[in-house]
Amino acid sequence: MTDLFQHRIQSAIEAARPLVSGRVTGAVGLRVTVSGLEANVGDLLRIGTGPNQVLAEVAALDGERLSCMPLGPIAGLGTGTPAFSTGGPLRIAVGPDLRGRILDGLGRPMDGGPPLRGAMVPIDGTPPSAMERQLVGAQMSLGVRVLDTLVPCGKGQRIGIFAGSGVGKSTLMSQITRGTAAELNVVALVGERGREVREFIEHDLGPEGLARSVLVIATSDTPPLVRLRAGAVATRIAEYYRDEGADVLLMMDSVTRAAMAQREVGLSVGEPPATRGYPPSVFAMLASLLERAGPGARGSITGLYTVLVEGDDHNEPIADAARSILDGHIVLDRKLATAGHFPAVQALDSISRVANKITDQQQRSDATELRRLMAAHRDVRELVEIGAYVPGTNHDADRANAAWPQISAFLRQDLDDRTTAESAWANLRALIATI
Ligand SMILES: Nc1ncnc2c1ncn2[C@@H]1O[C@H](COP(=O)(O)OP(=O)(O)O)[C@@H](O)[C@H]1O
Ligand SMILES: [Mg+2]
Repeated sequence: MTDLFQHRIQSAIEAARPLVSGRVTGAVGLRVTVSGLEANVGDLLRIGTGPNQVLAEVAALDGERLSCMPLGPIAGLGTGTPAFSTGGPLRIAVGPDLRGRILDGLGRPMDGGPPLRGAMVPIDGTPPSAMERQLVGAQMSLGVRVLDTLVPCGKGQRIGIFAGSGVGKSTLMSQITRGTAAELNVVALVGERGREVREFIEHDLGPEGLARSVLVIATSDTPPLVRLRAGAVATRIAEYYRDEGADVLLMMDSVTRAAMAQREVGLSVGEPPATRGYPPSVFAMLASLLERAGPGARGSITGLYTVLVEGDDHNEPIADAARSILDGHIVLDRKLATAGHFPAVQALDSISRVANKITDQQQRSDATELRRLMAAHRDVRELVEIGAYVPGTNHDADRANAAWPQISAFLRQDLDDRTTAESAWANLRALIATI
């Protein structure tokens, strides 16, 4: 009720604000310049009138001239087209009935459902201060055995999923969406093709996954600024539910595409390219976006962010930057996927930096034992394959080889196989006890 009241007052104030208009003075590439209007960086402008009007965000200032990035198609804009300030940055409606909804990159419904109710909030939430935040101390069950035991994720932890394309990121995300103990999933799909998005919603996620989620989608054909904002919109929605006390799982596929969108925006408004063609704003954006996940004073946002790594380019600047900000990484391996081993998690290369804080002694010792056996198996696998391994040479390898069918069955998981972290730990205990 108070929300609605505030909303009305705010709309009234906005309606009463004097209308000041500027004019379009140029458009080059993605950038539209406007003069004759006072606005701040980040403010939203309405350019044009009637059906051709387009929203644009002020991205840079230069004296009188505003450099703006459009949030829609700019065909039809001309010199002299009027531009109006909306008086502030992009706002989205957040409220309790977002569950099950599909929104576009600017937080507007795109599922044909009813209009959103709720308070209109700016999309840039500030993260709670370090002192206010609880510490990561409890496990967030993801419902995937290999992750829940070998890369355990804490409530409020931020983990990267590093993978090439076609290795099973989307499928893993949908499996987590359906299997996690989180109260709500917020899923941002940034820069995917339209066909992939439909497949994800209809095939991977299904009605059951969607019912536990809010989806924010900006496909590859949307303007770069919309793709960029989709990440912030999804994060803002997660923050709303966190502040209501919920443990939220925020998944973003992919931060690499969000970074590429920021690069397009930065270069268009005249920023210099610094690291391998990426302007400095890309790294600032990554840090501020990923920093917003984490535990709150109550409630938490656990963040899972996919990062594209093609080939073996581990020094790729975006992957590098993401790794330094996140507190853990899950590596998906194309070789496992090719061999039909799903989820294709390469556990030996994956790490959760909070594992020690959220597991007990027994769990740690079982996980370490399994990792040791897996490492021994990996060391001798090629020798075994060519028949050059002499049993008895390496005790751990012998144990691992003998038990490999059970180990492999533990690591693999069908899409419709539901588990919890608790049962995964119990399975691991039983597995270790029999080897
Ligand atoms: N858990 C799984 N079980 C069976 N097949 C899978 C699984 N995960 C991925 N795949 C196969 O790999 C393909 C690519 O997976 P996808 O999740 O779309 O990859 P990405 O999102 O990384 O591009 C799928 O079409 C499917 O054939
Ligand atoms: Mg995908």
